[in-house]
Parts: sequence; C-alpha cells; structure tokens
Amino acid sequence: MVAKLPSSILVVGAGGREHSLVRSLLASPARPRVICAPGNAGIAADAPCFPVAADDIAGLVALARAENIAFVVVGPEVPLALGLSDQLLAAGIPVYGPKADGARFEASKIFTKETLLKYKITTAAAGIFTAEAPALEYLKSHPAPIVVKADGLAAGKGVTVAQTDAEAADAVHEMFAGKFGESSSKILIEDCLVGEETSILVVVSGRDYVILPTSQDHKRIGDGDTGPNTGGMGTYSPAEVVTPEIFARIENEIVRPSVNAIADEGIDFRGTLFIGIMLTPDGPSVIEYNTRFGDPETQVVLPRLESDLLELLWRAANRELAGYTLKVKSNYAVCVVIAAKGYPDSYPKGDVISIPTLPDNVAVIHAGTARNPAGELVTNGGRVLGVTALAATLPQAAADAYAACAAIECTTKYYRRDIGARQLNRR
Ligand code: AMP
Ligand code: GLY
Repeated sequence: MVAKLPSSILVVGAGGREHSLVRSLLASPARPRVICAPGNAGIAADAPCFPVAADDIAGLVALARAENIAFVVVGPEVPLALGLSDQLLAAGIPVYGPKADGARFEASKIFTKETLLKYKITTAAAGIFTAEAPALEYLKSHPAPIVVKADGLAAGKGVTVAQTDAEAADAVHEMFAGKFGESSSKILIEDCLVGEETSILVVVSGRDYVILPTSQDHKRIGDGDTGPNTGGMGTYSPAEVVTPEIFARIENEIVRPSVNAIADEGIDFRGTLFIGIMLTPDGPSVIEYNTRFGDPETQVVLPRLESDLLELLWRAANRELAGYTLKVKSNYAVCVVIAAKGYPDSYPKGDVISIPTLPDNVAVIHAGTARNPAGELVTNGGRVLGVTALAATLPQAAADAYAACAAIECTTKYYRRDIGARQLNRR
C-alpha cells in the first residue's frame, strides 16, 4: 500500500524540465499544491514561484520548511551534487532525487567510468588523466575520431567529439588550462562510439526500478546534427530505433546491472538514473549517466504517461516501487526547442515573445522566459521554449509542433527543422 500522497510539493529548478514536472504533478488526481523555486515566467502561470536559486541549498531547505512542503522534486544536477537531498532528508523532508553520493554518477564521469568497468557494463574504452603531457602522449596512439571529456559538471559543454587529432589535442590543452575550472582538472579520453543515441530514463528506488518511455534527443544546434553541442534542441518519444529486442538488451545488459551496481556500491539511490546509450552495430553501450530527468526528454516522456507521476515519484522516494506497473499511452510526442539566435554561444535576452492560442494537443513549455517591467513575456535564456505536441502518429505530432513554432512570434527565435526526421525517414 502506497503511503498517502503528499499534498504540498516543491519543484526545484527553472527550465523546461521543471515546467513539465510542475504540469504533470498538478495533473495528479491527488490535486496537490505545487510551488517552484526559482521557476520561470511560464511556470509562474501554473504555480507560485519563489526566488530561491537552485544552488542555494540552505535557502531551499528553509523554503520547504516555511511553506510546509511534504515532498521535494529536484530537477537539475547541481543542487543534487551539492547535497540538497541529504539536507532535506536530514530535515525530515522526503525528496525525489539522489543524495550527493548518487549524484556523483553525473558529477564525475571518471567515477562512472570506473563503476561501469568494475561491473562489466558495456561502455567505450577510456584513459584517465590528471596532467596534460600523458594525455597528449595517449592521443598519439589513439587517433581521431576520439572523445575528450572533463570529469566534472560543465553545464553540458564538457565533451568534445574530436574529428581530427589537432582538435583532440586542443581540447586536452584547454581543459588542463582550466576551461571548466576544477571540473576539467581531470579528464577522460574515450573511444568514439558510432550509432544512434537514445535516452533511457529510469526511476530508481534502491534495487527496484521503472523504465520510462524511450526518447531521442537532438544535441547539435544545426539541422542534420551539425554544429556545436547544446543542452538539447528537441526530442521525440517513443524512439522506435529501440525495438523490443534492443529494449530487452538495454534492460538486461545495462539498466538492471547499473541499478544493482549502484546498490552494491552502498548507495541508496532514489531518483532518476538517465542513461545515455549509443546503439552501436555491436549492441547498446553506455555513453554516460545523468542523475536527473533529461531536458528536453522530460517534455516528451511525461505527457505520455497514463500513470500518475506523483504516485510514481512518491513511491520511489519511499522505497515502495516493488510491484509497481507503469501505464503508458500509445501516442507520439514531439518537442521542438525554440532557442535564442546565437545559442549555444552568446545570444540576446529580453526579446518579446507572443504566443497565439494553440490547439489543445500542443503545450508550450517554458525554459528561458521572464516578464519585463511592462509585464510582457520575454526571452531570458538560450533555450527559450519547448513546443510539445501529442498525436496519434509521429508525422502528425511533428506537423502540429512545427505549426505552433511558426505561429509563435519572437524576432530572435531559432529552431531546428528536423526534429524527429530520423524516425520519420525510416518509415
Ligand atoms: P554530454 O555533454 O555528456 O551529454 O555528452 C554530449 C554528447 O557527446 C553525447 O550525447 C554524445 O552525442 C557525445 N558523446 C559522448 N561520449 C561519446 C562517445 N564515447 N562516442 C561518441 N559520442 C560521444
Ligand atoms: N538532453 C540531455 C540532457 O538532459 O542532459
């Protein structure tokens, strides 16, 4: 029997992922009160937002106490790595999101690589370096394409997939020169995996887990997967490249061994394990672990759940996930991210956004938005909106999302035109 569902929830974070979480939690039959910190202009239209930064751990614990919060759902990785969940649990407040020991699987790529190797979970071979000279020496016997990764958190920018030897050497040099501060004082140099990627989000509670619907992100800024990496320019779900056979391999060879490995390491993980997987010709291989929901994966995964998200997360937080069966809709979801022109480099802020009335199957999820002094909705980040459409088919969901993107006015808007194209072209 599941513990009584909480009536007041705090969602921590300020992006599209958190807007999606807020919407899905508000849709719970338990009708909870949901607040967010710090939130954004779109979240504020759905739930009260409090100006406490996502990395202000003491401030968030104080807010949860002051607002009589019964359950905290943490969006981003930084507060998890800083120990927000440890502090909340110490204060007697249940939380969804791992403690700092679990968040290390995202905060240290070296820790993750060592764990994957220890438990023989398939991943690219890699060298680990704490100084530039041996790293450059290693590159001599490991020609491009090769992948250079900062060990620590780098806001999604710490990975260089080098296509030439010079690019690899430059990345090594920049990292040891302090490009990502302490995060790149140790690095990994990893073999390049080839194939299609898929994002597997797993709700974990100790040794119990629930795999959420599959999705695929589009990481590069440009159409046809060109240009620099971003936080993610669009997603669709389900990712049909993950056939039932491949899904079974992913569960048996990656998900279950990963969940057990974490527990065997003595870590009581209760939160999302997001496994980035490359579907190579030899089978699925782990690219990385993240310890939170994906952004913009969340925007396409959550609306496809038939089950109550609040019950799922609450069970995970309370070690009551055993025997739980997730219900998923048979529809398709597409999320097209509208970014500010210039992202992921520098971009303007403060551009006025006008959103017309849209069909019911389209949700405009806010990522980087704010209100200007005149009360107008304006851009306030690189990724601005996540336009998400649900439909019975993928072509219809993509068409509806793109019609909405065209109808939204914002002079600096930029979006990829090929979200979902891989799967659409396979048909
Ligand atoms: P991250 O910033 O850690 O999410 O990684 C960014 C992206 O780099 C991944 O989504 C992959 O597209 C790419 N990547 C990371 N590791 C590898 C690898 N070993 N081989 C090929 N691509 C990789
Ligand atoms: N969309 C990839 C991530 O959330 O890291």
